[in-house]
Amino acid sequence: MSEMEAPGEPAAKLQVGSFKVADAARTDSADMAFVLDQLAQRPAVQTLKAWALEQLAPKAGETAVDVGSGTGEDVVAFADLGLRAIGVEPSAGLREEAVRRAPSGKAEFVDGLADKLPLDDESVDVVRCERVLQHVEDPAGAVREMARVLRPGGRIVLIDTDWQTAIVHPADPDVLQRMVDGFLSEAANPYSGRQLRGQLVDAGLEITGESAATWLEPQSCARQGFLSMMHVRSRQSGVITAAEADAFVKGITEAADRGAFHMSLTMYAVSAVKAPVA
Ligand SMILES: C[S@@+](CC[C@H](N)C(=O)[O-])C[C@H]1O[C@@H](n2cnc3c(N)ncnc32)[C@H](O)[C@@H]1O
Repeated sequence: MSEMEAPGEPAAKLQVGSFKVADAARTDSADMAFVLDQLAQRPAVQTLKAWALEQLAPKAGETAVDVGSGTGEDVVAFADLGLRAIGVEPSAGLREEAVRRAPSGKAEFVDGLADKLPLDDESVDVVRCERVLQHVEDPAGAVREMARVLRPGGRIVLIDTDWQTAIVHPADPDVLQRMVDGFLSEAANPYSGRQLRGQLVDAGLEITGESAATWLEPQSCARQGFLSMMHVRSRQSGVITAAEADAFVKGITEAADRGAFHMSLTMYAVSAVKAPVA
């Protein structure tokens, strides 16, 4: 077992798979589902999922779409409320996993991209899109596409992280900055969280609410998950040296052992409506 493996969790599971479409075919979908299940348990994620459902006020008989539906839990939540529920998801492996998890025939999972939705104009009452736009090259175009499929009076919620809000302590500020810069340069749209409101306004929608939730990592996350992926990738890409990576790991794990580790990240959520026909 390496220094970054947690008991009971094989190394492969600790690598955070990429959720970019370009990587969908080569990333193991069991690993992606494992990561999504871990993230779904974070209190901040649960807080914003509940806020979204409240803002969307889904009604039985309506049609709801989750764009980038992952393992499908939010699609099944719409179906449980009596809606026609559709998940649009480009990863074949995640679609298969979502179908496997959904009670038979309750929800539909279709192949598609956020910026080219396989849906007719004004055919949907409710749209949600969570932690997807950060992986999309043209997020503004994708939000315009979501506005296209919404019926007049239809509701939408966008949720996303803004990776500039990531704080890790303790760490050498220079080493941490190089790790964060390396990570941000690999991501399609790392500042997504701050852009959601403007993207909805620019798509012609009326803002109805906004919220945020900060995710605080437990002490155990000094040894696993996102941080272990980040320092391994930074070392592999050469933005930090092996000695700097070792010092980083030593610093955060020693801090965690005495309960003094900190990592936080803020996610934002914005709701909007398409103006009803006068
Ligand atoms: C972090 S996961 C979030 C999944 C789900 N929304 C949730 O809340 O658990 C990101 C998802 O976006 C999907 N995705 C990536 N690029 C996409 C694109 N261009 N259009 C639609 N979905 C995309 C990925 O396959 C993945 O399922």
